[in-house]
Amino acid sequence: MQVIRSPKIIQKTSLALKRRGQTIAFVPTMGFLHEGHITLLRRARQAGDVVVLSIFVNPTQFGPKEDFKKYPRDMKSDLKKAAAAGVDFVFAPTPSSLYADSFETYLEVTNATRELCGQFRPGHFRGVTTIVAKLFNLIQPDIAFFGKKDFQQYAVIRRMVNDLNFPVKIIGVDTVREPDGLAMSSRNVYLNDQQRLAALCLSRGLKKIKTAVRGGKKDLKKLIGILQQEIKREPSVKIQYVKAVDKDSIQPLAVYRPGKTLFAVAVFIGKTRLIDNLVV
Ligand code: PAF
Repeated sequence: MQVIRSPKIIQKTSLALKRRGQTIAFVPTMGFLHEGHITLLRRARQAGDVVVLSIFVNPTQFGPKEDFKKYPRDMKSDLKKAAAAGVDFVFAPTPSSLYADSFETYLEVTNATRELCGQFRPGHFRGVTTIVAKLFNLIQPDIAFFGKKDFQQYAVIRRMVNDLNFPVKIIGVDTVREPDGLAMSSRNVYLNDQQRLAALCLSRGLKKIKTAVRGGKKDLKKLIGILQQEIKREPSVKIQYVKAVDKDSIQPLAVYRPGKTLFAVAVFIGKTRLIDNLVV
């Protein structure tokens, strides 16, 4: 496994691999790898001749009051995990090598970013699409893997790739959960034992929605209410949003659409923001 820090070198390496006819499978991450990322890497290992992992905590997707500085980082452990998962190249640039002082070009998906996290994290998706486009240009992947825990991000990236004709196949991978249902996230490390227990209301509520839908319930307000009720039982959990949107366009839905409805939730537990979702 080779660790590359320079954007120029990763681009030169990728172009050389492509010239030799190798397919590149790419997993973009912000590091602090957990089982969810490892699942993405396993899928990439099966899909490409060469697996590239990027580890970069991207400053442009964090708001001024968000946790960019505090975001968990552990490069040594990440490199061990990456090697064990069969990664060929790790791209781990510094912020200044990707964002020169003169940087002023951003990429924006307009509609799919209006709702859900986009409403509460202005500029977040602009940062995500800009960095992912830069990484695609540097790494030249044939196929790239994104976790569906950030379902809106997955939808926004697909929109960007379609709209701008990036020659990359985007694969969404199901959320990996702890045995008790908690969606894996690098931010789970911020939770103390009590908060972690309280956080289970998200997966519990989503599961109840699934059961209700399977039992024939279709009233969107009532379905959303099931999750809201479950969360309100935990006084330490503060709802930012609970919404139902179309899973592809991320636009609000007036009625339940079988198989196309994304129930998405964001909460704060103390200072920790958690998200989860269900497509049903
Ligand atoms: O999902 C993430 O970890 C990040 O948003 C991504 C896609 C690596 C872009 O910084």
